[in-house]
Amino acid sequence: MIDFRSDTVTKPTKEMRDIMYSAPVGDDVYGDDESVNNLENFASTRFNFEAALFCSSGTQANLLGLMAHCERGDEYICGQNAHNYKFEGGGAAVLGSIQPQPIENEQNGSINFNKIAAAIKPDDSHFAKTRLLSLENTIGGKVLSLEYLAQARDFVNEHNLALHLDGARAFNASVELEVDIKQITKHFDSVSICLSKGLGAPVGSLLLGSSSLVNKARRWRKVLGGGMRQAGMLAAAGQYALENNISRLKDDHANARYLA
Ligand SMILES: Cc1ncc(COP(=O)(O)O)c(C=O)c1O
Repeated sequence: MIDFRSDTVTKPTKEMRDIMYSAPVGDDVYGDDESVNNLENFASTRFNFEAALFCSSGTQANLLGLMAHCERGDEYICGQNAHNYKFEGGGAAVLGSIQPQPIENEQNGSINFNKIAAAIKPDDSHFAKTRLLSLENTIGGKVLSLEYLAQARDFVNEHNLALHLDGARAFNASVELEVDIKQITKHFDSVSICLSKGLGAPVGSLLLGSSSLVNKARRWRKVLGGGMRQAGMLAAAGQYALENNISRLKDDHANARYLA
């Protein structure tokens, strides 16, 4: 039986489990977990961001990204099909007092910039403050083009917004486009990356951003109950995944094409 429900049903390999077994650990809430620190340092270098935060899930990494960019009464613009709008229990509104402004995705997964511009609220006390544009790549299995990402950066600069990427499967996009992940992530102020999907780690996601954004997110992570203690066993699996399991995503893509 082949389980096609999701790439989240992947299981750690023996090599990954061996690494987890021997991972040095400490209390990460005190900053003492060597394996978590290694992963966060490794990731910030790998993705070329100032800082990285190990999170319990993609949902948590996205929520922390939104809460670090936005205050109570702010708004983020995203696609109608965005995971962090449609499939995360309304967390930004429920827990962050942040209003989503969803816009219908185009066939290719992008969001039309004219439609985004029309949805940005004027500076007027009737409205929430539009702070952030959130994109997703891949979205519904579709890869956003590098040209579109560059245009999104120009667009947010022009409109004084920040730009977040739900990059749960950003490595699928980079492997498909045959570019380094930095060519995708360089346009964004913050990025979430899932380690527990096609990359095969059992648990965990990363949030990447500036040091000040990640410090804010770290504080919210604790408030949300996401301060994990000896989390190094999980972080070591995540680092193993980043070091060993990227290029094999090609096999998943080939299998998906064959199945289609
Ligand atoms: C695009 C995208 N973002 C975020 C998530 C959330 O990840 P998690 O299941 O680890 O909370 C998912 C989960 O499938 C996803 O597909």
